[in-house]
Amino acid sequence: MSSQRQLFLDHLAQTSPTPLLLEMMYAEGIYMRDANGKEYMDLISGIGVSTVGHRHPKVVEAIKYQVDQYLHLMVYGEFVQSPQVKLAEALCKTLPDDLNSVYLLNSGSEVIEGAMKLAKRYTGRSEFVACMNSYHGSSHGALSLSDSDEFKQNYRPLLPGVSHVRFGCIDDLDLITENTAAFVAETVQGEAGVKVGSELYWKAVREKCNKTGTLLILDEIQCGFGRTGKLWAFEHYGIAPDILACAKGMGGGMPIGCFIANRRVMQVFTHNPMLGHISTFGGHPVSSAASLAALQVIREENLLSSVAEKEMLFQSLLKHKAIRALRSKGLIMAIEFDSYNIRKQIIDKVIELGIVADWFLFNDRSMRIAPPLIITKEEIKIACKKILQAIDSVVD
Ligand SMILES: Cc1ncc(COP(=O)(O)O)c(C=O)c1O
Repeated sequence: MSSQRQLFLDHLAQTSPTPLLLEMMYAEGIYMRDANGKEYMDLISGIGVSTVGHRHPKVVEAIKYQVDQYLHLMVYGEFVQSPQVKLAEALCKTLPDDLNSVYLLNSGSEVIEGAMKLAKRYTGRSEFVACMNSYHGSSHGALSLSDSDEFKQNYRPLLPGVSHVRFGCIDDLDLITENTAAFVAETVQGEAGVKVGSELYWKAVREKCNKTGTLLILDEIQCGFGRTGKLWAFEHYGIAPDILACAKGMGGGMPIGCFIANRRVMQVFTHNPMLGHISTFGGHPVSSAASLAALQVIREENLLSSVAEKEMLFQSLLKHKAIRALRSKGLIMAIEFDSYNIRKQIIDKVIELGIVADWFLFNDRSMRIAPPLIITKEEIKIACKKILQAIDSVVD
């Protein structure tokens, strides 16, 4: 084992008994290169992050420019910092008029924590309804909303007053009442293995929230920022949230997240007491500059317009008797196999063939495919050929 790998095992906190241990030295576009010079196609975008590809030149340029101006100056919300202002304005322009106030943070879990506090404070209620098989993050509040006893059992007590309903089930919406601060859902469920709700479902969700005065929090931390072929996944369903949560891909490879709501709602953080939610590094100027550049790249390179076509190409090429289902919404896809064991062997094999893929937290029979949106049709053909080759080598 290389000495770096040994030091990694010795001194970096481990989250799995069997980390992949790939030692990458360089990344550009959809490719990564390891310490032995072997090239890998990144088919998961660092789990939903490298939406515009690794080290997009426009993102790198924006980072370099900002590094030469200033780094951290002051905690979030006190100084007027141009990268934050420009990013917030640009984000609001992509959204319905009601979503006009942006709270910048550093990660998805933090965004969910902030959004939960906002919903409690604004409604004066403390209960939440979330969805079965949802994942919203690893911090205590976000974990309370997530639905997995396995992941939660050692960390109880978690937040009281959280109930879980079946994702996509209109009947279950009866659990949303006048006591519910917010209904929280991923617009497209990621870690469940790419599950979608119908337009009818989302309209019913919106109606129920309106009727009960419940805020609708849509978690687009994984499925937002272009991943599904629209900038925001909720645009597919003709509804809009009261609070939108975003992170991962919005940084172009830098850590940043945000929740976005109406100014009237957001202003509750300013009084009784003031500083209702605070963050030292939220909206770091370098991350904000990178995020604005990533948004501009999506626009300028027209990346959204080819997502549906690329999704169909994957769908048409990935045909194999061992594939039980191929669920997708844009370029977030789940290839389902018969068992964990088969899926694991296939992923081991695709990595050997130079493709990075992985699985889902709550669906270990499915393999995740979520490449940077810049992937070309030629690259998709090569990737699918290797995936089929891997499947063939595991299943006779
Ligand atoms: C839908 C969703 N919400 C929240 C999170 C948590 O984000 P982070 O890991 O940045 O805290 C994730 C991470 O995978 C996610 O997929």
